[in-house]
Amino acid sequence: MAGIYIHIPFCKKLCFYCDFYHVVSVKDNSAFIDALLKEASIRKDYLENEPVSTIYLGGGTPSVFSIKELETILNTLYKLFKVTDDCEITIELNPDDVLSGYLEGLKSHNINRISLGIQSWRDSDLKLMNRRHDSAQAVIALKETLAAGFENVTIDLIYGIPGMTLKEWESNLDFSFSFDIKHLSAYHLTFEEGTVFGKMLEKGMISEIDEDDSAAQFNLLVEKAESAGFIQYEISNFGKPGFFSIHNSNYWKQVSYLGLGPSAHSFNGYSRQWNVRNLKGYIKSVNAGESFFESEELDTKTRFNEYIMTSLRTMWGIDLEYVEGMFEKEGYDYVMNLAGKFKNYGLMKLEKKSLVLTNQGKLISDNIISEFMMPGDE
Ligand SMILES: C[S@@+](CC[C@H](N)C(=O)[O-])C[C@H]1O[C@@H](n2cnc3c(N)ncnc32)[C@H](O)[C@@H]1O
Ligand code: SF4
Repeated sequence: MAGIYIHIPFCKKLCFYCDFYHVVSVKDNSAFIDALLKEASIRKDYLENEPVSTIYLGGGTPSVFSIKELETILNTLYKLFKVTDDCEITIELNPDDVLSGYLEGLKSHNINRISLGIQSWRDSDLKLMNRRHDSAQAVIALKETLAAGFENVTIDLIYGIPGMTLKEWESNLDFSFSFDIKHLSAYHLTFEEGTVFGKMLEKGMISEIDEDDSAAQFNLLVEKAESAGFIQYEISNFGKPGFFSIHNSNYWKQVSYLGLGPSAHSFNGYSRQWNVRNLKGYIKSVNAGESFFESEELDTKTRFNEYIMTSLRTMWGIDLEYVEGMFEKEGYDYVMNLAGKFKNYGLMKLEKKSLVLTNQGKLISDNIISEFMMPGDE
């Protein structure tokens, strides 16, 4: 099984926190679609004819595209790849693009998973982050999506927003769980270099919330999601049973995927590729038959580090049998030696034959993961 990710790099407005590759414009649509379809055709053998069981339309903002444009993209994928009948097809929608005719169109084109970028139900947060929508639009968007009969609906929320209290985060969570959503992605706000928030932080115009508040918001998230019937299958991802994102889970399980569009990444088990992060450069190079990506063959240490980085964030943890099979006794001993210390501190535990983070461990997952990284040969 394999997956396909399509990066649609257009946004109508710049969100102050966002570092995903995007351009604030919608004028290059047709040239972009032509290049995207061309890339799909050039790289049709990348997945070696494996059945494609997930397609993810992400961005940027895929919902700037009309149903006709999405249809053109999907039809090309159906022609070039072996897409399975029950393929999970996700689209990211911005709440202000959700109109009932549009939802019908998505449904009739087999799109069966909707990811709504709510971010917060509070107007003051949405304004601070420079989102296009307000909370009233977000409520309508979610209600209409559910009313249109989409069963597999997920929303994105951000916490750790400057000025947001624990009580306000609690209301955001309670309000989210009052809807029949099946999945939630909740991310702690990160101040990425080069973004508006990143620059404001440098100039002291905004500040990060303190560590105790961050931890309290994370703990509340885990607790509330669990009592609402959601399973935390990855640090930032919560799903009702049967509604985990297959596409994202496959990233964490080392399944091959092909990424199309500027900045998209691809992985086929032994190498990674990443497309140029520049729309004009991407279109020009694809059309001219020039190279539009860089790639890296993955050596054993890199594969080991990637496995730890992804698996430790999930509920499945580090599978010790897999480690022994893939990285031999050396890899196994390395993991077990380090794990001893974290187990003693109550940050990690052994579950069947896997090492998983405890709730305490999840709070400092980045630090634990970095201690597991094997240094490269220099
Ligand atoms: C590719 S983005 C956006 C999808 C869609 N364009 C939207 O804005 O709703 C996916 C998600 O990543 C999260 N995200 C992006 N940048 C972030 C940051 N700096 N800190 C925390 N969450 C972030 C947001 O929740 C966002 O919805
Ligand atoms: S969060 Fe979404 S809409 Fe906002 S800039 Fe990033 S990709 Fe675009």
